[in-house]
Amino acid sequence: MKKFALLAHPTTHSLSPTMWQSAFKELDLPYTYEAIDVDPVKLQETFSILKNKYNGFSVSIPFKEAIIPLLDSISKEVQEIGAVNTIKIEKGRTTGENTDWIGVTKALGKIDDLLSKKVLICGAGGASKSAIYALNTLGIIPYVTNRTKEKAKLLEKQLKVQIVPIYDLPEAHVLINATSIGLEKGDKFPISDDYLSNCSYIFDMVYGDTNLNRRAKKLGVKRIDGREMLVYQGIAQFELLTGHKAPEEAMRKGVA
Ligand code: ATR
Repeated sequence: MKKFALLAHPTTHSLSPTMWQSAFKELDLPYTYEAIDVDPVKLQETFSILKNKYNGFSVSIPFKEAIIPLLDSISKEVQEIGAVNTIKIEKGRTTGENTDWIGVTKALGKIDDLLSKKVLICGAGGASKSAIYALNTLGIIPYVTNRTKEKAKLLEKQLKVQIVPIYDLPEAHVLINATSIGLEKGDKFPISDDYLSNCSYIFDMVYGDTNLNRRAKKLGVKRIDGREMLVYQGIAQFELLTGHKAPEEAMRKGVA
């Protein structure tokens, strides 16, 4: 019997539990996976208790960066990216890993001729860093815009980016939402229809019925479904944490 969980806030929208449970059922594994809504102010004390009770964690907004100082070690990718979405626990030792960048790379693989495209990423947190790393690995330097300019400027220390202000965005073929906008009902994505309609692809990492997804659909702009990234990061994460080959079809069914 092994126990896994998602650490995030909020967790209500998350499809990770059904994706993992579907995989366990397919492989007939007596394992559990649940979503734990962690109060951001109590991350340190909550994690110090939970880490002794589980075999591994998925980590989502807003903890992808905040969790790093609480871990015993981090992988080479996490050192380069500065964000964690996976925590392995072996003999009581916690190791931070990142499979988000793999999810982003595979999800963007659906775009023809990606290497010639201009990409704009909104956000400068952990999800954004994984997307930037994925693009840098392909040789693309994305534009990045963020509500807090100082936080965006910090990205330049580790990753290759061009920071742009939200009031003067350069044209882009691909727009990626890597902020948490859309997690709460009523969230409105702060970029105009005019700008969105000039994009060729919109990729909202906050999957589901978000304001951005609704507007992209209405404007007739092609979308990369955030669930593609969810499944691909999940496959890599499942294999890292359980040691079993991930059942892709069952995981896709779990998020459908
Ligand atoms: P994580 O590290 O887990 O990805 P995070 O650090 O909380 O999570 O990052 C969330 C991102 O969403 C940040 O870029 C944040 O912008 P700030 O740096 O200005 O905080 C962005 N974000 C969250 N709510 C937002 C809002 N209402 N409008 C604009 N950006 C928002």
